[in-house]
Amino acid sequence: MPLMTLDHIRHLAAHDMSQVDAVIQTQLASDVALINQLSGYIIQAGGKRFRPMVLVLAARALGEPSPWAAQMAAVVELIHTATLLHDDVVDESTLRRGRDTANALFGNAASVLTGDFLYSRAFEMMVAVQQPRVMAILAAATNRIAEGEVLQLMNMGDPDVDEARYLDVIVRKTATLFEAATQLAAVLACQPPEVEQALAAYGLHLGTAFQLIDDALDYTGDEAHTGKHIGDDLSEGKPTLPLIIAMQRGDPATRALIRRAITEQDARNLPEIITAIHHTGALAHTTAQAQAQAELAQAALAALPESPYKTALIGLANIAVQRDH
Ligand code: IPE
Ligand code: IPE
Ligand code: MG
Ligand code: MG
Repeated sequence: MPLMTLDHIRHLAAHDMSQVDAVIQTQLASDVALINQLSGYIIQAGGKRFRPMVLVLAARALGEPSPWAAQMAAVVELIHTATLLHDDVVDESTLRRGRDTANALFGNAASVLTGDFLYSRAFEMMVAVQQPRVMAILAAATNRIAEGEVLQLMNMGDPDVDEARYLDVIVRKTATLFEAATQLAAVLACQPPEVEQALAAYGLHLGTAFQLIDDALDYTGDEAHTGKHIGDDLSEGKPTLPLIIAMQRGDPATRALIRRAITEQDARNLPEIITAIHHTGALAHTTAQAQAQAELAQAALAALPESPYKTALIGLANIAVQRDH
């Protein structure tokens, strides 16, 4: 079966996504001007809306969606946006979605506090659903994301972080929210535990693939496509998979070069390190790991009935690997 293109998938989700956008617009409103200004700034910059899209597609793959599906998809995007506001402060990033980051423009304090507003607004919105499981899933996911970010902070500047510790970070900080999104689609549709687990597994593996590629793009991407600066991870001394593998497979000089860049959080040798990532096969290995995760995601969907929405979810797993932004 030919895979669906992203355009086709977006078209399938378009009606639901316009509802999601409407919910987000309404819910961003605050009588505090700076909150409106800053949250409007980052939301209007767009973003791929990948997480709410998988939620609404998963909901459709299970039949007529719950009236709460769009609201929960908006919640997931608001939580994601809050993590980005905080993440750019922590990472000292200056470019996001092709624009100055909110922290660059409005300052760290305003960014962190508006991130807090988005988290708490998301919690108000999930309480409105009055379903304890929905709240439990989102509360646990938000907690795990925070743990992932703190674990990553502890790994910064440490060249001895291995693949297992790296995976632990990316599963928590990124895959968890994808997992929650797709699991929620099943919970809102009152599906049996096996369907809920299948969709949760899909989201978890999709999110892992997604972050593996994000970490590859931090070295190999094109800023015009990613809308983010290349080399940010290196200047933070983040031991991501491309570096871990290049250190394992590189000659002693390459290993020393990368170890020093991580320890000293110094991106001066970015061009040489990019070359090493290519030559050692570290990039190919990272992409292959992402592909393996995408295949696990696709396999998890076996339990779902055939539908265009299921085909879209299968396609999205491939797109998460092949994407350039
Ligand atoms: C960025 O997420 C943070 C990661 C988990 C990699 P996205 O790549 O989904 O960012 P936007 O929302 O499209 O800008
Ligand atoms: C994503 O991590 C942040 C969260 C998932 C909370 P990154 O720091 O790798 O994301 P980008 O590259 O800045 O988008
Ligand atoms: Mg970052
Ligand atoms: Mg990154």
